[in-house]
Amino acid sequence: MKAAELKASGKDIISLGMGEPDFDTPDHIKEAAIKAIQKGDTKYTAVDGTAALKKAIIEKFKRENGLEYKASEICVSTGAKQVIYNALVATLNAGDEVIIPAPYWVSYPDMVLLAGGTPVIVNSGAETNFKISPKDLEAKITPKTKWIILNSPSNPTGACYSAADLKALAEVLLAHPQVHIMADDIYEHLIFDNLKFATISEVEPKLKDRTLIVNGVSKAYSMTGWRIGYGAGPKKLLKAMSMIQSQSTSSPCSISQAASVEALSATHAYLKTNAEIFQKRRDKVVSMLNAIDGIECNVPNGAFYVFPSCLGLFGKKTPAGKVISNDSDFVTYLLEEVLVAVVPGSAFGLEGFFRISYAASDEFLENAMQRIAAACKKLQ
Ligand SMILES: Cc1ncc(COP(=O)(O)O)c(C=O)c1O
Repeated sequence: MKAAELKASGKDIISLGMGEPDFDTPDHIKEAAIKAIQKGDTKYTAVDGTAALKKAIIEKFKRENGLEYKASEICVSTGAKQVIYNALVATLNAGDEVIIPAPYWVSYPDMVLLAGGTPVIVNSGAETNFKISPKDLEAKITPKTKWIILNSPSNPTGACYSAADLKALAEVLLAHPQVHIMADDIYEHLIFDNLKFATISEVEPKLKDRTLIVNGVSKAYSMTGWRIGYGAGPKKLLKAMSMIQSQSTSSPCSISQAASVEALSATHAYLKTNAEIFQKRRDKVVSMLNAIDGIECNVPNGAFYVFPSCLGLFGKKTPAGKVISNDSDFVTYLLEEVLVAVVPGSAFGLEGFFRISYAASDEFLENAMQRIAAACKKLQ
């Protein structure tokens, strides 16, 4: 908010707070949308998505994840965000618990609260690369646990659960049939270091009938503004989600759905190229951050975020004489001193860290890292 005000007042703010790729939507996808407009695809569609888009989604799951779904097990919504919200509203009663590993995407706990449930946070830290262990998970499960939300690659840390990590968590979940699994796979295609993306129901098929996969076109295809996400899971759940959508927002945008058919069905060579570009940026940002005294940054395997620690700077004084006592102090100092906007870790449930989005050009990122280094050097 403060960054936006400073920017509006003409200050040269560098914002590293964005949660979207800096690439434009590919032309072939835009053209599919233009064609859809021209041929009159401008009316309401089926509430849970067009037959063409459902078919493209079913094929995507078969091709990329080895998973079989029927059309009745899919619901297309206005962004992955709406898929998650529909699912929580459809299933949560007062007192139901939802396990959320921290650091978490900021919307999860608030959506659980809005739907009348109780968020139950499982903490993780840099020492485990921001991943929870089966033991951590087991300790939080109660008879009231309705969901666990797994997000890999993760926003805000970029952490990725391997197939082996997921198999170990699945072992715990198999013993607790009341728990449903929400696998938020929205960063699926942003994965590096030759790591293979895995989702829990592919790794443990016995969990498929209680898993909702959440995915969409926003991050992989640079389509954040088109607002198309989809959920896949048990028919009864998907039907309930679609009913909620029917009485709230109805079908997602007809034109965006036509564009998403093209995104999911056409050639995907550029997904790998984009991931390679992001991996190079990650390497640059991590090495520039680790060269700064007081900052430590793990190397994440996915998404387009890094989550460095600023704990080493706590207790230091700014040139104006203010002591840095927490991540919010540090983030405020960066904004005021060198006009760089980042997000404090406490917003994501882990104090002492901050999130940087590196979905920006090399030049922009270099400038930002140099500014952060200069600000840190001034701390005494
Ligand atoms: C972890 C995570 N899930 C879901 C979403 C929502 O994506 P969409 O733009 O499709 O609503 C985001 C967007 O920032 C995200 O980071």
